[in-house]
Amino acid sequence: MASSPSLLPLLLLAIPFSAALVGAAAPRAFACGRGSPAAGLPFCQSWRPVQARVRDLIGRLTVPEKVALLVDNAAGVPRLGIPAYEWWSEALHGVANVGPGVRLGGAYPGVTSFPQVISSAASFNATLWELMGKVVSDEARALYNAGRAGLTFWSPNVNIYRDPRWGRGQETPGEDPTVSARYAAAYVRGLQQPYGGPRGHSRLKVAACCKHYTAYDLDNWNGYDRFHFNAKVSKQDLEDTYDVPFKACVVEGKVASVMCSYNQVNGVPSCADPNLLRNTIRGQWRLNGYIVSDCDSVDVYYNLQHYGSSPEDAVAYALKAGLDLDCGPFLGKYTESALNKGKVSVADIDAALTHTIAVQMRLGMFDGDDQPFGNLGQQDVCSSAHRNLALEAARQAMVLLKNDAGALPLSPSHLGTVAVIGPNSDVTNTMIGNYAGNPCAYTSPLQGINKYVKTVHQVGCNGVACGGQQPIEAAVEAARRADATILVVGLDQSFEAEGRDRVSILLPGRQQELVSKVAAACRGPTVLVIMSGGPLDVSFAEADPKIAAILWAGYPGQAGGAAIADVIFGTHNPGGKLPVTWYPQDYVDKVPMTNMAMRPDPSTGYPGRSYRFYKGPVVYPFGHGLTYAKFTHALALAPTQLSVQLAGFRAEPFNSTALSGRAVRVTHARCDGLSIPVHVDVTNAGDRDGAHTVLVFWRPPSGHGAADKQLVAFEKVHLAAGERARVAMGVDVCKDLSVADASGIRRIPLGEHSLEIGDLTHTISLKAEALRR
Ligand SMILES: *[C@@H]1O[C@H](CO)[C@@H](O)[C@H](O)[C@H]1NC(C)=O
Ligand SMILES: *[C@@H]1O[C@H](CO)[C@@H](O)[C@H](O)[C@H]1NC(C)=O
Repeated sequence: MASSPSLLPLLLLAIPFSAALVGAAAPRAFACGRGSPAAGLPFCQSWRPVQARVRDLIGRLTVPEKVALLVDNAAGVPRLGIPAYEWWSEALHGVANVGPGVRLGGAYPGVTSFPQVISSAASFNATLWELMGKVVSDEARALYNAGRAGLTFWSPNVNIYRDPRWGRGQETPGEDPTVSARYAAAYVRGLQQPYGGPRGHSRLKVAACCKHYTAYDLDNWNGYDRFHFNAKVSKQDLEDTYDVPFKACVVEGKVASVMCSYNQVNGVPSCADPNLLRNTIRGQWRLNGYIVSDCDSVDVYYNLQHYGSSPEDAVAYALKAGLDLDCGPFLGKYTESALNKGKVSVADIDAALTHTIAVQMRLGMFDGDDQPFGNLGQQDVCSSAHRNLALEAARQAMVLLKNDAGALPLSPSHLGTVAVIGPNSDVTNTMIGNYAGNPCAYTSPLQGINKYVKTVHQVGCNGVACGGQQPIEAAVEAARRADATILVVGLDQSFEAEGRDRVSILLPGRQQELVSKVAAACRGPTVLVIMSGGPLDVSFAEADPKIAAILWAGYPGQAGGAAIADVIFGTHNPGGKLPVTWYPQDYVDKVPMTNMAMRPDPSTGYPGRSYRFYKGPVVYPFGHGLTYAKFTHALALAPTQLSVQLAGFRAEPFNSTALSGRAVRVTHARCDGLSIPVHVDVTNAGDRDGAHTVLVFWRPPSGHGAADKQLVAFEKVHLAAGERARVAMGVDVCKDLSVADASGIRRIPLGEHSLEIGDLTHTISLKAEALRR
C-alpha cells in the first residue's frame, strides 16, 4: 500500500529531496502544487472566491495559451505549472473507459458496472439513482487520484426515448419527461456531491454533464443520420417533452455541464444556436458551469451541414452561441485566425474559459497537492459494498411482464433439471450495454441459475442475429427432457448501439422460432427472459399459453445473471416497471423515425408517441410490471378544490387551436409553495414482501391538446406481506398541472383535473382567484 495517496504527504516530509521517489509514487502533477512556479499567485489561493481566481488566471494567459484551453485535450501551461488536462471522461452507469480520459489497468483493472440506464430507470427508485451516482463518484475520484481518470464526466444521457428503434435509447431513463427529470437530478446530485463554498459556487466531487441538448434521438435510420439530421420540433414539444429533463438537470440537479448535440433543431445546429445555449441553458436555467460540444460537433456542422462559409465563421457561431469547450480540435485550430479576422473577440474566448476554469477550480484542480478526496484509492473501487449495490440495482431493474397462474417463482426443490437456452443465456459483456467500463466480475444468467438448480445448457442460436443454420434442434431436445426451461433471448450492441438504430422491433433472425419450438417441447413451465435495451414486439410470446412467464432483464449490469435467477426462484420479488411503451411492429412500420412530433396528427393518421399521446394498441404499456405480492391503494389525503391566485392579472381565454376554456399563465400565477398533497395508503395484500411504486397520473380538463395523461409523481415503498404504509407525495401546480400551448407558453387550465393512482381516480376542481390586497 506504499502508493496509497494518503501516505504521500508523509513520504514527502520524510525524504523531501528525493524527486525520483516522488515521481515514481505520484504520477499526478497538480496545478499550484509544491514547487509550482505559480505558488503564491492569487489563482492558486484556494481561500479566494472562485470568480476572482478565475479572473486572475485568465489575466495571465497569452492568446495561444487560451486557445489551447478551448478543446477537450487541453494543453498545459508549463510556465504557470498547469498540467495538460483531458476533459473527456464518461460514467453513464459506472466509470466507463469510453472517453480518452479514463484508462483502466494496473491496480485498477475494473470498476463497478451498474445496470444500463434504461434498466435502472425501471426501478423507479430515485434513492437508488442517487446512491449509484455517489458510488460512481467514489470510484471516479479513486481513479483520478491514481492518474487514471479526469474529474469531468460527460454523463448522464437524458434525451427523451422517443422512438423504440433508437440505438441509444438504452442509455436513457426512457420516454417520460417526469421520470427523466427526476433521474437526471438524482444521478447528477449523486455524482457531484456538492459541498462547501459560497452559494452557487459549491465545490464538486466530480462534474457531471447532461447530454445531448436537444431533440437528439436518431442515430442512423433509413438514410438519415445524426450528423445531418434536422429535427423539426414544435415549441410545444420542446417545452413539455424534450427540454424537461435538461431543465431539471440544470435547475434541480445543479449540473456543472451540458453537452449540445450534433443534429440541427429547426434548421440550426444545436451547438451553434444562441437561443438554445445562451438564452435557454445559461439565461433562463442559469447553468453554473460549462457547455461542451458533442465530439467534433463544430467540425460536423461546418463540414457536413455546411453551416458557416469559413472555419472561422463556424468558430464564431460556436462562441457567440455560448459554447465553452470543443470536444475535438476545431476550436484549437481556427480560433486564432477567427480572432485575426475579427470574427470573434478576446472577450468571447475569455467568457468560455471563465466557465470551464471555474468548474476546474470547484473540483479542486488548482488547490495543489492537498487534493480533496485524496484518501480514496484502490480499496474504494469494486468494494463489496459497491458490488452489492450493483446486484441490488439489477434486482430492482427486473420487470415481470407476464406470469400466468403464478407460474413464477419456481421452486428449486421441485425441479430436477432445468434447461437453460438462448443466445443470451451465458453472456457477460452483453449484460453491461454500452458506455461501460470493465466490470469487477460478471455473473452470467447460466451461472446465476446454476446456484439454484441443476441445469443443462444449449444456446439454440449462436448469437442474437440467429440466421441460417442454428442448433435449434439440440435446444428443443434439451427442453424436452427438462422439468422447466429458461430461455434468455434478445439483443446486444450489434443490433442497438450508438450509430445503429433498428428497423425491426421483432426478435432478430430465428429467435422467435427457437422460443416457440422450445416452449412447445417442454413439459414443465417455460420462462422467457428478454435481455435488451429497447423494447421488442413479443406479442407471440404473450399469446402463447406454453410460455408461462416473461421477464424483461434489460441490460442488467455485472450482477445481472444473479438478479435474473433471484427473481425466477423467488429470492427477490420483482418490482420494476417499464419506462417505455412496448409497441407492436406495426407501429414502427407506419411511423417514420424522423417525425419528431409527440402529438398525433389526425389529418395524416400519425398516431403520436409515448403513453402520453399514443392511444393505439401496445404490447405492454408504460408502467407495466407484475409482482409476486398484491398491492392495493386507498386515497388518504388530496384536496377536491384548489384556487390559483393571480399575481395582479386576470385569467385569460386559453387561446390555442387545441385548447379551449380558461387558463392562467404560469407567469401570472402565484406559484410559490403552490403544491397539492397527495397521500396514498398502500397495502401489501399478498403473502410475500415486496416493493411497489405508486404512480400518480394526471389527466387535464378535457378538450386539450395536452397529453392524454401524464405522470406527475411517483414514489417507491417496500412493504412486508400484510403491511400497510402511507406514501406522501406532492404535486407542484405550476410545474405539473400546466400545459404548454402551441407557442410553448405554460398555462394552468381551470376546471376539473383528475389524478389516477392504480384504479383510483380523484378529481380536483381548479379555479382562479384575484389576489386580495
Ligand atoms: C388567438 O390566436 C389566433 C391564432 O394564433 C389569433 O389569430 C387570434 O387573434 C387570437 N385571439 C385572441 C382573442 O387573442
Ligand atoms: C430503493 O433503493 C435503495 C438502494 O438500493 C434501497 O435501499 C431501497 O429499499 C429501495 N426502495 C424501495 C422501496 O425498494
